[in-house]
Amino acid sequence: MKKFTNAVIYKNKEADEILVENGKIKAIGKDLGPAEETIDLDGKLVIPPYVDPHLHLDYVYTLSEMGEKGAGSGTLFEAIEMWPKFKENLTIEGVKKLALKAIKDEVSQGVQYIRTHIDVTDPKFTALKAMLELREELKESIEIQIVAFPQEGMYTYKGGVKLVEEALKMGADVVGGIPHYEPAREFGEKSIHDIVNLALKYDKLIDVHCDETDDPHSRFVELLNALVLMENYGERTTASHTCSFGSADDSYAYRMMDLFKKSKMNFISCPTENAYLQGRQDTYPKRRGLTRVKEFMEMGINVAFAQDSINDPWYPMGNGNMMNILDNGIHLAQIMSPEEIEKDLDLITYNGASCLNIQDRYGLEIGNDANFIVLDGNSPFDVIRNRSSVLASIRKGEYLFKQKPLEYEIELNL
Ligand code: FE2
Repeated sequence: MKKFTNAVIYKNKEADEILVENGKIKAIGKDLGPAEETIDLDGKLVIPPYVDPHLHLDYVYTLSEMGEKGAGSGTLFEAIEMWPKFKENLTIEGVKKLALKAIKDEVSQGVQYIRTHIDVTDPKFTALKAMLELREELKESIEIQIVAFPQEGMYTYKGGVKLVEEALKMGADVVGGIPHYEPAREFGEKSIHDIVNLALKYDKLIDVHCDETDDPHSRFVELLNALVLMENYGERTTASHTCSFGSADDSYAYRMMDLFKKSKMNFISCPTENAYLQGRQDTYPKRRGLTRVKEFMEMGINVAFAQDSINDPWYPMGNGNMMNILDNGIHLAQIMSPEEIEKDLDLITYNGASCLNIQDRYGLEIGNDANFIVLDGNSPFDVIRNRSSVLASIRKGEYLFKQKPLEYEIELNL
């Protein structure tokens, strides 16, 4: 048995110790008694591992790989057009190499769960094959969910629906889609029906790139929500981005939010990515590009933050640091009241876990795997304000990594 002591435990003021046996949390509380090994956490904040619920691991670092060909104005639709030329030359080893680099970026900064969208509008399924291998090879260190994502559309790309179905048969966990990219609303709507039908047929989760545009008439989220509400499938469904919902009329938005609450559908917002990509056609004022994160939180609609891109044609930056995503997100969504700050870390932990539909086995609860991270601070406010780094990541009771707090050779003396 192993005991982690002297911890500030997120959402549990009654406890300062975690007892671990056989990789599981055996007890959480105070004065839990002796253990074979005791680890003093020095009053630092312990939270469940970060979850990155939306990342494109087949695109990571491809912007740098493209060299000059990758240079463009950086709009969303331009990037979608640029991508097919590059993906013709993908190899399984090449995809794995870049994806592994990004996974290391994320794991070394406290992430233990990733949902990745993998482009399956490729009859060779090169990226999917690479990711299926990586999911298996890395499973002791990180849990990866794979979305069968038709980047070039289910209809815009001829045969796209069949490719998504084939990807599910090959082992993808989640059905994806991109209705706002289909060439007419009718095809976007058809794709939403296909997505839900495929999920039901193959017992898969759903995560749709939904309304990633400023156009308030892009309202595929309405149909997606309606279908999963009627099928009682909302908890297994996520609408990613829904940027246009940030531009929607209030009377429509509040009607829809009532329905989102009923369906229990999840939302993912990608603050850095969409702040960069959206509002491009606005002169001034410029929209922020985010969905209604603050209102979702107030209404009890589950919403999480995600990285989305690391150095790809859609977004040149990104380093897998979820605290950076949170920092950007809480500014853009204006969620910094004392009560909100107490819950903001949920946006990169518990809320993401609900999107992945792993909420029943995620978190600092007795019986769960002993997975948690130690942050360099002693309260949610402290770590968010300081954008604190992750001092240790523990998985099944063992260190994935551990580092020392920042040490100075010569300290500032004022
Ligand atoms: Fe995405």
